[in-house]
Amino acid sequence: MTAARPWPVGVEGIAYGGDYNPEQWPQEVRLEDIDLMREAGVNLVSVAIFAWATIEPREGDYDFTWLDETMDRLGEAGIKVALATATASPPPWLTRHHPEILPVTEDGTVLGQGGRQAYAVSSPLFREYAVRMTRMMAERYGDHPALALWHVDNELGCHVPHDYSDRAAAAFRAWLERRYGSIDALNEAWGTAFWSQRYDTFREILPPRAAPTYANPTQQLDFARFSSDELLTHYRALRDVLREITPQIPTTTNLMLKSDTKWMDYYSWADDLDLVANDHYLIADDPRGQIELALAADLSRGVAGGDPWILMEHSTSAVNWQPRNRAKGRGEMLRNSLAHVARGADGVMFFQWRQSRAGAEKFHSAMVPHAGRDTDIWRSTVALGRALEALAEVRGSRVLNRIAIIVDYPSWWASELDSHPTQALRYSEELLRWYTAFWDLGVGVDMVPLDADLTGYELVLAPTLYTVRDEDADRLAAAARAGAQVVITFFSGIVDENDHVRLGGYPGAFRDLLGVRTEEFCPLLEGQVLHLDDGTEADLWSEKTRLEGAEAIRSWADGPLHGRPAVTRNPVGEGAAWYVAARPSAEGLEALVAEIVAAAGVEPSAVGLHRDVEAVRRFAEDGTTYLFVLNHSDRDQVVQVSGYEMLSATDVEGAVTVHAGAAAVVRES
Ligand code: GAL
Repeated sequence: MTAARPWPVGVEGIAYGGDYNPEQWPQEVRLEDIDLMREAGVNLVSVAIFAWATIEPREGDYDFTWLDETMDRLGEAGIKVALATATASPPPWLTRHHPEILPVTEDGTVLGQGGRQAYAVSSPLFREYAVRMTRMMAERYGDHPALALWHVDNELGCHVPHDYSDRAAAAFRAWLERRYGSIDALNEAWGTAFWSQRYDTFREILPPRAAPTYANPTQQLDFARFSSDELLTHYRALRDVLREITPQIPTTTNLMLKSDTKWMDYYSWADDLDLVANDHYLIADDPRGQIELALAADLSRGVAGGDPWILMEHSTSAVNWQPRNRAKGRGEMLRNSLAHVARGADGVMFFQWRQSRAGAEKFHSAMVPHAGRDTDIWRSTVALGRALEALAEVRGSRVLNRIAIIVDYPSWWASELDSHPTQALRYSEELLRWYTAFWDLGVGVDMVPLDADLTGYELVLAPTLYTVRDEDADRLAAAARAGAQVVITFFSGIVDENDHVRLGGYPGAFRDLLGVRTEEFCPLLEGQVLHLDDGTEADLWSEKTRLEGAEAIRSWADGPLHGRPAVTRNPVGEGAAWYVAARPSAEGLEALVAEIVAAAGVEPSAVGLHRDVEAVRRFAEDGTTYLFVLNHSDRDQVVQVSGYEMLSATDVEGAVTVHAGAAAVVRES
């Protein structure tokens, strides 16, 4: 199948490689790099991401010699380049001459030079310099045969998702004027009659800087929307230069889609990315980190609208930035890599190619470790290259699911604001808990935006969909009427897009759909646990709900709400709407999800597997299917399947044994 999105020019099969930083190394090492890349089967590397100060050591004085050589050598070796705009970290001369480009935190602290990403994304002057550098790169390398893909900046918003500088304030005001048109409309939207906050003109408005107490919630929400848009605006400015000079080369930037990165509304960025690229790092102290990895991969595919995408960075082994940086175990790097491929990645790349000798990331693993070639990491690097070569034909095939989870960044931002019923509610935690229940049942899910086409989904879950417009609520109701099991969890439908409460009882926007009415939230205290009538526990949340048409599926078995509904189901048209007004334990949630999945009639990808064995299928346009089986458990697993196992190049009749910690990919017959 041809991917709907453009592919890095000239890269065959699955893309394989990593960030390549030759500017950190002498000539002899750079020469060895090329040989080693060929040995490993590398076909794509990201170059010059943090090279601004090397390329332009003083203003207007450029040195491209090393980069010319690098591009030529890679080109001759048949290795393609994802070339960066080199703008991710401004050089010291720039911030010294123009300290006004530095970002400012909420409490007025200016973030200085010496780390990276020391720029305010709203600074017009920084934008000018970044555009100039981007133009230099495009004009110099636009026709280079090794150039395959443009890599804009690096993880936009990673360290500075919000800037509170005066430049940001000016841009925020302009953004608000475009959104509201008049100051009266803004006053209405922000509810400024409260606490004497009425604004007389846009000139009075500031970002939500440190204040004596809670800043206006709608101001905070709009600032989050603005900040995500501002980062995208910066991307677009650089992308436009690249498109103008090299329309034939696709452009991307590496996103940070994972369970706890919330400040960039990546769904709203998707149309501007020719190809979706994600960076993902395993959470070292999570014994089942493969689940969060899978969530991130599904989210990447969701942002790509179901099209294949590229894993732009992950780690061969330990990272350097978690509290304790665990080295990966046997087979883990291959399993992590193939888990991304199974969920739609057509590229597997690492940070970074060669482990640095100096700098803050010298203890971060790489494809070529400090200890050199006689290492497990290097052998795994070579083995992964072989594995990806064997999987070349998988490229372009898709993942098809009948369950959708709605991920909504504005609800993520708004549901976690201050001055709420509980400060303990974490959107990402709820998302991961539900995701885990589906994982444990072995059923695949798509992570879709609120405005996604829900046709064809048998089950649609909206966790903590706190802020919704009427039309969004209507679309969920329409999905239920059309036959889907629609599941809404607590603290959903509470406010409109301006964070104004929907009156008449919670969950305002979904009351009719769900056939329930809540009169009061009753969040639980820290450590407090109540029971549901199926014998399982629940914590964090409860609410005083009564049935208005729905039936109770679970009720409270103790506590002040004893006997009241905690989980409800309302038949709607051809489908049903479920309300989960509690936070069941993992065990309780899994049982509930099993009931809902059964009502939706969705089957797992493979049956009878241990819960730590991941089975995911990709579908090619010609009808070929590929079953990926990743055994994260410590025992061998027999999987019922027939076809051709591509990693070992062997035929499989009826069953394949996947050893503990190992992986298999079967082209099914
Ligand atoms: C990413 C970043 C890389 C490197 C890596 C380390 O966030 O893009 O440059 O710092 O983390 O894990």
